[in-house]
Amino acid sequence: MKKRHRALIGFFLLVIAAIEIRNLYDSLRGSSSSNGTEEKTKDDLEALEQRDQHRVQPKPLLNEEDQNKQSNNKEARSNPEKTNLQLKRKTVLLWNWEWLPDIGEPLDTVLERSNCPHHHLCKLTKDKRLVNISDALIFHRSLGPNPPLAFRRPEQRWIWAEGEPPCFGPMPDTGEPYNWTLTYRLESDLYGPYSQIYRREKPLQKDYMSIVKAKTGLVAWMVSHCPTPSRRMDYVKELQKYIDIDIYGRCGPGKVKCLKEPGKIMGYEEQCLRKLENYKFYLSFENSLAVDYVTEKFFKTVNIDVVAVVRSGANMTRLGFHKDWYINTADFSSPKELADYLKKLDANDDLYVKYLEWKNYYYSAMSTTLCRLCERLLYHDDPPKTYTKDDIRRFFYTGNCFKPNDIVR
Ligand SMILES: *[C@@H]1O[C@H](CO)[C@@H](O)[C@H](O)[C@H]1NC(C)=O
Ligand SMILES: *[C@@H]1O[C@H](CO)[C@@H](O)[C@H](O)[C@H]1NC(C)=O
Ligand SMILES: *[C@@H]1O[C@H](CO)[C@@H](O)[C@H](O)[C@H]1NC(C)=O
Ligand SMILES: *[C@@H]1O[C@H](CO)[C@@H](O)[C@H](O)[C@H]1NC(C)=O
Repeated sequence: MKKRHRALIGFFLLVIAAIEIRNLYDSLRGSSSSNGTEEKTKDDLEALEQRDQHRVQPKPLLNEEDQNKQSNNKEARSNPEKTNLQLKRKTVLLWNWEWLPDIGEPLDTVLERSNCPHHHLCKLTKDKRLVNISDALIFHRSLGPNPPLAFRRPEQRWIWAEGEPPCFGPMPDTGEPYNWTLTYRLESDLYGPYSQIYRREKPLQKDYMSIVKAKTGLVAWMVSHCPTPSRRMDYVKELQKYIDIDIYGRCGPGKVKCLKEPGKIMGYEEQCLRKLENYKFYLSFENSLAVDYVTEKFFKTVNIDVVAVVRSGANMTRLGFHKDWYINTADFSSPKELADYLKKLDANDDLYVKYLEWKNYYYSAMSTTLCRLCERLLYHDDPPKTYTKDDIRRFFYTGNCFKPNDIVR
């Protein structure tokens, strides 16, 4: 379980598509000879704003105070000389937070590689000796055994980070106090979804109709954890009464080996992902039904030619996902009704292809969470904030998990 948690937290800023990220790397390699840092600031801000326009998922919800800060920040941006004078390189210390264990992305270059315009002004590190000069410390789930309490400075932001939903058991001893939260919950101080969806600057020109016609499989599912709080296995068993499902992974009948592997894209063997493209539908069923909790199970389907059938506790619309990007079990009164709909799409290529065509215009990739953290440390003068254990309990551990209501028994 521990290991799995660690692996999952790594997905926070995970690269979803090798191809897109490769492109990104390549374009960065061309422009990364970043020189005098401060001079680049204005361009960088414009670059970030441009990139933000392409981000379709919402920014974290802001309260009024934050909004005022933002408009102040806009003034600062319109006066780059003034901003430059105030700029000081920021250090973010990942105190006990694992970094991308699944793909082994080196921490010190990840900002640059993910096109973060602030990379030259922001250092990510795990070196605990830098605690005294760190502007922010990130703690995963708890302060851990030897938190640097004695060295805590009031200007430092201590950040509570969590990527797993609170549905597996009682609240852990998080320790306290913290200053910010970083989770997949939209209302976190730093919204940290598993990945994000971006609009392509240059649309692809894929002919999805011919892709559809070449497909030979109907529904696929890849799963390695069988009993889960969401009881997805029970849902699938019911669904299987009405439609054929090929199951890969540890829970399938053939127990096909297609498990997460370190160093591989999204933690999955690419060959395995490509197998999915033979299918029309892929079941992106979360292990827990929790508010805002959508994981790589959905994001990994965005860049491959398969339609995700989502089962989660998230309001997908609220998270910025359009209705024709996925099929949601929540829109059907029973697994049978869902099966009927999938069969209807299977019989009607015109209807089915609408769920693929958007992929010409969008892709998923690493979330910008750490980049936005740097941006806030650099350019926003956020007022001090404190979260006690009770605040975290109210925010994260209370009322955010749902029992499945779509399974009989
Ligand atoms: C970087 O700056 C140095 C001096 O600070 C200068 O000699 C060099 O030409 C610059 N390189 C680029 C690529 O601008
Ligand atoms: C941090 O600074 C304090 C003095 O303010 C010093 O005692 C301590 O050793 C420093 N810690 C580290 C890890 O450098
Ligand atoms: C989901 O979110 C959208 C947009 O925020 C909202 O209009 C809708 O009522 C929500 N749906 C549910 C079932 O809460
Ligand atoms: C962080 O929290 C501590 C403890 O409540 C507080 O003293 C400090 O002012 C806070 N700092 C910031 C920057 O929010």
